[in-house]
Amino acid sequence: MRSSDIFKESQKYMPGGVNSPVRAYVGLDIDPPVIKKGSGAYIYDEDDNEYIDFVGAWGPMILGHCDEDVVKAIKDTAENAIAFGAPTDLELKVAKFICNTVDNFEMLRMVNSGTEATMSAIKLARGCTKRDKIVKFAGCYHGHFDGFLVAAGSGVLTSNIPGSPGVPVGSIENTLIAQYNDIDSVKELFEKQGEDIAAVIIEPIAGNMGVIPADQKFLEDLREICTKYGTILIYDEVMTGFRVAYKGAESLYGVKPDLKTYAKIMGGGLPCGVYGGRRDLMEQLTPLGPVYQAGTMSGNPIVMAAGYAQLQKLYSNPGYYDKMDKLGEMLQKGAEEVAKEKGLPLVINRRVNMMTLFFNESSKVTNYEEAKASNTELYGKFFKHMLKNGMFLAPSQFEAMFLCTRHTEEHIDKYVDLMRKF
Ligand SMILES: Cc1ncc(COP(=O)(O)O)c(C=O)c1O
Repeated sequence: MRSSDIFKESQKYMPGGVNSPVRAYVGLDIDPPVIKKGSGAYIYDEDDNEYIDFVGAWGPMILGHCDEDVVKAIKDTAENAIAFGAPTDLELKVAKFICNTVDNFEMLRMVNSGTEATMSAIKLARGCTKRDKIVKFAGCYHGHFDGFLVAAGSGVLTSNIPGSPGVPVGSIENTLIAQYNDIDSVKELFEKQGEDIAAVIIEPIAGNMGVIPADQKFLEDLREICTKYGTILIYDEVMTGFRVAYKGAESLYGVKPDLKTYAKIMGGGLPCGVYGGRRDLMEQLTPLGPVYQAGTMSGNPIVMAAGYAQLQKLYSNPGYYDKMDKLGEMLQKGAEEVAKEKGLPLVINRRVNMMTLFFNESSKVTNYEEAKASNTELYGKFFKHMLKNGMFLAPSQFEAMFLCTRHTEEHIDKYVDLMRKF
């Protein structure tokens, strides 16, 4: 078995055999398949097993794997431009395209990952407001920046405990935790410390405790509170930007942030990120202003070319989103029917082309506490059953599943059919 041999050897050289922990299938008692190839909605492991991919590299592969236009853009660019560390026309093209086609990106800066985008946006917010505190929501993930790694769970409203060894208490003492979809928990923090809060950062549709969309009114109230206190509202749309709609989750709510972060899809599958928003804030960045942020690889030509190809294709084909929404609805209905037939406890949260099937006894999942009540053991069994039968899903109950433009009704039928056999 070539795949498991490679994974075993990988463990000698890379912690857990991986370069990002979720890939290691911790707690599932199986090795992850080692993937060698992707095409459209399919990926293939080193033993030539075929899988229908519902992970999509954790979101970026919205056009499916190795989309011909993205591949061509990468190849063509690599002939002449790999990295310069100097201004290029290509980065201007992408910046202009994003600012002209997405609302409220008045100015932006490219970086190399989602983490870099969110930590830079926070630094900018702190620099502009001259305040130190930030608010994040329990269950939201904004990357591995120390200031975001705060244990999230019941009772964390008051006590900040680092979520990882290596995070000094000093790095998180300015991170306040509120409850998602609970405006009173936000008000409580602002009533006590509002004048010290630089920023509130939120995934407007959370994807990292499983998919949990914010309530419309909650987001509206959050905006109002931030405006009242002069606090910067940051939407982390690393996952949802160009995903739930071309113009991101923001366009589904019509509630405007001050800054926002995108990544994943905008790099066409290559390492990337971007933060941007209000011009007056972005102008505080070096070299114009005093807030320092830099990157050797930022705006890399090949990343820009891949991203540009992917964004242009998404922008010029709005029907893609309708198609993915229909397939998402088909999957949701099918899975709900099966759950009813089999008496499976199931709550499905979906926005367009991202969703989570929570094995949860409750009738709704609206925050981290409710998500955590899901039956992770049952999810683990379901995951293994699906993987064995050629479905590549997220190996955790608390992740999203993603549709791409290359999924078809047959793929959805197969998913539902396999669920019935579970
Ligand atoms: C909402 C959100 N923010 C930030 C990040 C971090 O992005 P990256 O893994 O590119 O650093 C992620 C990653 O999944 C994410 O989903």
